[in-house]
Amino acid sequence: MSGAKRGAAVAYVPDRFLYGGDYNPEQWGEDVWREDIRLMRRARVNTVTLGVFSWAKLEPREGEYDTAWLDRVIEMLTEAGIGFFLATPTASPPPWFTARYPDALNVRPDGTRLAHGSRDTYAVSAPAYRAACRRIARMLAERYGDHPGLRGWHVHNEYGTLDYGPHAAAAFRRWLRARYVELDRLNDAWMTAFWSQRYDAWDEILPPVSTQYVHNPAQLIDFRRYSSDEMLAAYDEQVREIRQAGSRAPATTNFMLPTWNHLEQWSWAAHQDVVSVDHYLDSNGPDGEAHVAYGSDLTRGWAGGPWLLMEQNPTGVITRDRTYTKPTSRMIRNSLGYIARGSQSSLFFQWRASVGGSEQWHGALVPHAGEDSRAFAATCELGEHLEKIAEVLAPSADGRLSAAEVAIAWHADSWWALETPHLPNDALTYRDEVRAVHRSLWRAGVATDVIRPGADATGYRAIIVPCLYVIATETVEWLRSFAEQGGTVIVSYLTGIADETMRIVTGGYPGALRGMLGISAEEVEVLAPGERLELSGGLVGSEWSERIALRAASSLHDYAAGVLEGLPAITRNRQGSGEAIYVSTKLEQESRDEFFAAQMKRIGVAPVLAGAADLGVEAIVRRGRERDYMFLLHHGADAATVTGQGIDLLTSTDLANGLALAPGGSAVIRMSDADRIAIMPATPGEK
Ligand code: GLA
Repeated sequence: MSGAKRGAAVAYVPDRFLYGGDYNPEQWGEDVWREDIRLMRRARVNTVTLGVFSWAKLEPREGEYDTAWLDRVIEMLTEAGIGFFLATPTASPPPWFTARYPDALNVRPDGTRLAHGSRDTYAVSAPAYRAACRRIARMLAERYGDHPGLRGWHVHNEYGTLDYGPHAAAAFRRWLRARYVELDRLNDAWMTAFWSQRYDAWDEILPPVSTQYVHNPAQLIDFRRYSSDEMLAAYDEQVREIRQAGSRAPATTNFMLPTWNHLEQWSWAAHQDVVSVDHYLDSNGPDGEAHVAYGSDLTRGWAGGPWLLMEQNPTGVITRDRTYTKPTSRMIRNSLGYIARGSQSSLFFQWRASVGGSEQWHGALVPHAGEDSRAFAATCELGEHLEKIAEVLAPSADGRLSAAEVAIAWHADSWWALETPHLPNDALTYRDEVRAVHRSLWRAGVATDVIRPGADATGYRAIIVPCLYVIATETVEWLRSFAEQGGTVIVSYLTGIADETMRIVTGGYPGALRGMLGISAEEVEVLAPGERLELSGGLVGSEWSERIALRAASSLHDYAAGVLEGLPAITRNRQGSGEAIYVSTKLEQESRDEFFAAQMKRIGVAPVLAGAADLGVEAIVRRGRERDYMFLLHHGADAATVTGQGIDLLTSTDLANGLALAPGGSAVIRMSDADRIAIMPATPGEK
């Protein structure tokens, strides 16, 4: 590992793109292990993750360890030149643990204490659980911490199990005492004057367990913050054991995207040597590709540089009630898509398809059918591609991987805030709004970063602020000064409404941002499900609208119908040498696409490659040490031709001769001169 500094982190640069995935040898015998190694070599797999759910096998009885099998597996992998991440198996405590320490099981808000039988059955704040985690992490680190094949520590798996039991109550109170020091301050922050909730002693405070009616929103958001911090403390403890045992291998834990979010990622990222993520498509349709981009841009933001894709599904797209087959070309395009946006790996769940257990139908690099299969041929094909693009790994000297001029401001607080009940419109979610903005920029072919509120915004022309409901005073100042200095700030409805205690800023919405936006809204007008609200200029809103009075701003689009007809819907305020735009309704996706494309054009943010998006081709530039690389992923239906200067590393084609990009195909171009790359429909002969 080597690399340039960016922020607190050292850029993670392995010696090759890590290729492979979760490997569960405990599900088979040594004959299959031998077969696995042969196939891994055939596919050019260089990295597996061992031990994610191996606790019962590694410690069959408390304090009795059985590592002979793992020694043997590691020996075989090492002989074959295959490296490994070693997981601490703490996401799945074995039955002996829960039988012996029933108090260490997690409790649901309704008081149901869970039992073992699946996975993730633990109360993260239970002392017995934490001690058992420390012991097994220590044992593994002492035994394998300096192994030459060890690429890194995969601590736990997808932290995100909430607990509402007695241990959580005690830990929550400790966290609250540290935050508020005095009970009166908590009573004030939570506004416990409402509904007679005033606390007279710390011990009276509970996690938000089932109660008669809706909870206090300040209590809810603090519980989410506490849960994230408590899980981070558990992560830190394991890393401490690993370091005390002398292991210096990088440590990470795999974040989970896309549907749930129990962590405040910015603080977690600072505790990891490299940020990693698991990403599963949320749609089998064409939107899956936009989803890859969204997940990758988010993760690159959290990481502040290169990151690791720790899991994706090679062969399936799992939806609520069925699994669709993922074609080879999509698997390859997606894999290159993550890399284009900063991943240093293409790791999967999982190497070999299980024949039993709860995930026996989950996709794998080696499917049930074995090596004579379309899926395994795809595994081999990707292995070849990754070797061909190895030079892309090293990031640019300043550590920035993207050349994005637009950033989306993200914070988990607002995800959690929008999940509190009894907002004017409980159908609105943070994820949907952020995703919709990102999708519009993606459809316009515009590169996007995701940044923490308050981050260094040098180099951006625009900051987009979707539904940042909870806003700190410093964030308001940060946005104002960005605009003052010539930037464009685009703020959506449900932003700047509340302070960090979930208390609404009064005097008109959006409280904290009124001055900067030059408007004041006295009321919101929520729409019925499916109701469409026309705006001037042909845009259409939904779900939410506001009665806005212009103070210093002017109207870009008015409401064209309904009770707000003739009143401003989208406004613009000059701010220093820049501007602040407010969008007071949830634009429907097509209108949103149109709006953002127009705004980007107006402020001079160009797509990565002119004309590519219209052909269904996604173009991404990843900045490198010596050169920059343009990834082209053809999600569309008609063949295209690429010309200009550069070499496609996948086919060794010189663009000067024209590169044919077939539907479903990909290219990774070592660029000589970005401005001279062009894309156009193929001539009929090339189809
Ligand atoms: C998660 C887990 C894996 C597996 C996959 C299935 O990401 O980390 O163990 O369950 O989901 O998609």
